[in-house]
Amino acid sequence: MALLVKNGEIITATDRYHADIYCEDQTISKIGHNLDVPPDTPTIDASGKYVFPGFIDPHVHIYLPFMGTVSKDTHTTGSQAALVGGTTTFIEMCAPSKGQDLLTEGFELWADKAKGSSACDYSFHMAVPHFDSNTKDQLREIVGQGVGSFKVFLAYKNFFGVNDEELWNTLSFAKELGVITTAHCENDEAIAQLQAQLLAAGNTGPEYHEPSRPISVEVDGVHHFTTFLQATGAAGYIVHLSCAAGLEAANRARYNGAEVYVEAVIPHLMLDKTYAERPNFEGAKYVMSPPLRTKPNQAALWQGLRNTDVNTVATDHAPFDFVGQKDMGKDNFVQIPNGIPAIEDRVNILYTYGVMQERIDIHRFVDAASTQAAKIFGLFPKKGTIALGSDADLVIYDPNHKETLTAANQTMNLDYRGFEGFEIAGKPTEVTVRGKVMVDGGKFVGDSSWGEFLAREPQY
Ligand code: URP
Ligand code: ZN
Ligand code: ZN
Repeated sequence: MALLVKNGEIITATDRYHADIYCEDQTISKIGHNLDVPPDTPTIDASGKYVFPGFIDPHVHIYLPFMGTVSKDTHTTGSQAALVGGTTTFIEMCAPSKGQDLLTEGFELWADKAKGSSACDYSFHMAVPHFDSNTKDQLREIVGQGVGSFKVFLAYKNFFGVNDEELWNTLSFAKELGVITTAHCENDEAIAQLQAQLLAAGNTGPEYHEPSRPISVEVDGVHHFTTFLQATGAAGYIVHLSCAAGLEAANRARYNGAEVYVEAVIPHLMLDKTYAERPNFEGAKYVMSPPLRTKPNQAALWQGLRNTDVNTVATDHAPFDFVGQKDMGKDNFVQIPNGIPAIEDRVNILYTYGVMQERIDIHRFVDAASTQAAKIFGLFPKKGTIALGSDADLVIYDPNHKETLTAANQTMNLDYRGFEGFEIAGKPTEVTVRGKVMVDGGKFVGDSSWGEFLAREPQY
């Protein structure tokens, strides 16, 4: 299966030049002008378009049993939506809850669901919700099967959340195995107390979600996680950091010697807390944790993205329908399933509101949405760049495309769109995964079982 991409402008995290790309055996084998290729090679003409490396979303939930329901996308719908939006690889959280078996009700369950059902390539972070006498053996086995990162939740008391002893044991073992640990940083006890106080005072709407998880609670989580990183010597990655003070806490920890990376997610960059305050329960569509913050916090995240204090941009795609799922919390904001869908929109929103509005340059865009995730999570240079020998994951991008996002036109399997009404100023026209055309003319045309599990080695 060969493919020639001609006349495009190649843009990576570091380089920008016009050249043709020849792909064979799933990888990039030639880059240059007037390439010597077989005469009948299928060809994409990328004139007037950019050619980006496939984008990588390092934080998604596709299958997520959570808060009394299960997320709406399947691996088929979620991966197709990812590809339409230019994401060719995602890293999903295997998220068993407290007391469930990490192997059979964790890694093996998630691996079975994804196998043969994903159109794009995928990998996993392994969530560790408890640490008992079996845990070391099970984690060693899971890491041996190619899961090179863990996930801990300091929030979601009694469900995913770990106590301090479990956190310590997980990080110490991660250090021993050489894997990085990703973390949701919020203090779960403070949240539980604030939720109870707000409900007791009759404050039940989605607008009370943010007051129940104030910035101080997130900063405490960041400080706590990074304190444990420093003490154990483990490497860490803070997921969905939402606020200026959280970023300051992460930077302070770096200054003091912690090896810690920071992720922002596209909802926190673009949507402020007034979305969750929308009347008639509409705000429930925008309930996620940590919550949407005020505009100055968004500005701080963009600034961090520009100066690389924020390493990556992910989605934290967590899709729950408005009718039948979000409305489980109609009389009690604590029961609104947390999450905002974004897997289809991350790249186009970041390009439009980041690059086009000059908040970041086009190389930082590629870096934050692809290359850094590949480097931090052990996929580089197979993924995350355009180079000889790299997988032929290419996004042919029309920088003149104009569109208004709306639920009616989305590929995500959901009854609303997180970025409803947003204008975009660019879009992938063709997307390839290991040389196979998966998106053509902006629509999914591929094979829904083409996606492969990406085994990752410990590297810390
Ligand atoms: O609100 C969120 N973020 N939902 C998904 C679960 C998580 O915390 O990542
Ligand atoms: Zn989280
Ligand atoms: Zn998440």
